[in-house]
Amino acid sequence: MLVLMDFLCNLQTEQHFADVVLSEEFLNLGIEQVCSLISSDKLTISSEEKVFEAVIAWVNHDKDVRQEFMARLMEHVRLPLLPREYLVQRVEEEALVKNSSACKDYLIEAMKYHLLPTEQRVLMKSVRTRLRTPMNLPKLMVVVGGQAPKAIRSVECYDFKEERWHQVAELPSRRCRAGMVYMAGLVFAVGGFNGSLRVRTVDSYDPVKDQWTSVANMRDRRSTLGAAVLNGLLYAVGGFDGSTGNFLSSFLHCCLSSVEAYNIKSNEWFHVAPMNTRRSSVGVGVVGGLLYAVGGYDGASRQCLSTVECYSAAANEWTYIAEMSTRRSGAGVGVLNNLLYAVGGHDGPLVRKSVEVYDPATNSWRQVADMNMCRRNAGVCAVNGLLYVVGGDDGSCNLASVEYYNPTTDKWTVVSSCMSTGRSYAGVTVIDKPL
Ligand SMILES: *[C@@H]1O[C@H](CO)[C@@H](O)[C@H](O)[C@H]1NC(C)=O
Repeated sequence: MLVLMDFLCNLQTEQHFADVVLSEEFLNLGIEQVCSLISSDKLTISSEEKVFEAVIAWVNHDKDVRQEFMARLMEHVRLPLLPREYLVQRVEEEALVKNSSACKDYLIEAMKYHLLPTEQRVLMKSVRTRLRTPMNLPKLMVVVGGQAPKAIRSVECYDFKEERWHQVAELPSRRCRAGMVYMAGLVFAVGGFNGSLRVRTVDSYDPVKDQWTSVANMRDRRSTLGAAVLNGLLYAVGGFDGSTGNFLSSFLHCCLSSVEAYNIKSNEWFHVAPMNTRRSSVGVGVVGGLLYAVGGYDGASRQCLSTVECYSAAANEWTYIAEMSTRRSGAGVGVLNNLLYAVGGHDGPLVRKSVEVYDPATNSWRQVADMNMCRRNAGVCAVNGLLYVVGGDDGSCNLASVEYYNPTTDKWTVVSSCMSTGRSYAGVTVIDKPL
């Protein structure tokens, strides 16, 4: 009993909720203990989905006895904070929710929240619409491979607190122009170019073990793809397969519209609906449960693109949204405060320092402050309310510098400590610092 209380009182549990929820210890907690844990404002989770899944796992662990607690548990799950797609596809379909009228009321509350205009949502006085405010866990920015000027294996990490770079385990093989995500505590380096071929291989990095391992290959070879996590799946979007046909067709057709998704549980890739446009050097980001593919290069029209399309997993469909104000291939794309940023990129030989931001609520782009440097093929990630852009090239040199954007001041600031080497086409993502 003492051990159990320790487990609960310990702040670490709130901070590492994602790790504890599937442990035996969690599944064996009593109802009061689970309620006290999931009602905490300080719970550290990447999204509220984790809380819902934890509740379902806990009930299913001893369903006959525990299903009567569903309503008591769901009182603490902040359903309004979940994307609509997830509410419709997952929550509404869950039998444990269907069987409880109180649970259905919580679902209606969440739907109502989504139907209201933003300014009226604040008037909904419910504990379930309150954002959780976890303590900021220490973060690291991981920069993987890239072109310097050839494909390299080097991986380095930036420690935001120490303001220093350090090297970690190298990639198993050279890789640039890969897609990069952080999912389930692992970094995934997806596809890319190894110095001679576009590859379909995927490596995953475990920051705790400082170790790389291979996972299942994609179906298609692709470099300069976009990669993102949507509803727990890893998506690989577009890119370039470099397949050799005759001279003309090779450049016309090796820009890809194809999109595939990876399920970490089954270690399998499968195709989903292709984009409307072929896009290599495409940037992607997820906002509000939708996946956006921004700009890129279309081999068929031989043009850098200003068009943007968005994927709904529920409909398995891509739809065009508002275009950017300029053509951008090789733009860095990142998400900060539910807004989608397109940073730099190029149109032909012109490398941009301009930045624009998309608000899904108004389906419109607006310009924000320029970066200090022109950059294309840079990595982008968001952390602690700032948007970082890492390396890239300015049209003649690979850059080792990093700068960040603060939306509150509309200013870019160059980070004082550079990477060990200039690199473009590196993969960049933010991870929790291993304890
Ligand atoms: C690139 O990948 C191909 C196919 O996997 C392999 O045969 C080749 O040796 C690799 N090249 C380099 C430079 O690693």
